[in-house]
Amino acid sequence: MPQRTIITTDQLQKRIADLGRQISHEIPSEAEIVALCVLKGAVFFMTDLVRAMDRDVAVDFLQVSSYGNDTTSSGVVTILKEPQLDLRGKTVLIIEDIVDSGLTMREVDRYIRNKGAAKVMTVTLLDKTASRTVDFQPDYVGFPIGPDFVVGYGLDHAESFRNLPEIRVVE
Ligand code: PRP
Repeated sequence: MPQRTIITTDQLQKRIADLGRQISHEIPSEAEIVALCVLKGAVFFMTDLVRAMDRDVAVDFLQVSSYGNDTTSSGVVTILKEPQLDLRGKTVLIIEDIVDSGLTMREVDRYIRNKGAAKVMTVTLLDKTASRTVDFQPDYVGFPIGPDFVVGYGLDHAESFRNLPEIRVVE
């Protein structure tokens, strides 16, 4: 399957370091932050992002399913794994690898607000702005990208390519 690199490892690391610093400075110092990684794709981004945040951050995980092994969204969001921490009163930073239709982030955002978080913020590494079918804008975006199907740095095609250290387009 031919692929073309669109974001290099170096570009990823520089942007994520800036994002981590920016987010940690923009959240009030008294806030207790929980970085909530939406499995599985965001795990690579999450570990780099929280290490770029120069303050204490708790981490937790949530797993949802919306795509299966297809390259287009089924439009169905199912909670597969719930977060373990008590999110009441916390500032929850939901971390995604990509926002496409916007459906997953919108539903996860709603789900976490219902858990009693004091504040919910969202960050995505990649934002396919032209592919939105629901009205959702993340608070922080690493890179806006076009509509092409992308893999690497956590993003898969039928569970392959997640461990590529850069973002590539599948052609
Ligand atoms: C991908 C991605 C987002 C979602 C974005 O997850 O990680 O969660 O799709 O698409 P949307 O904006 O159209 O809802 P996927 O279901 O492929 O799971 P994975 O992270 O385990 O690969």
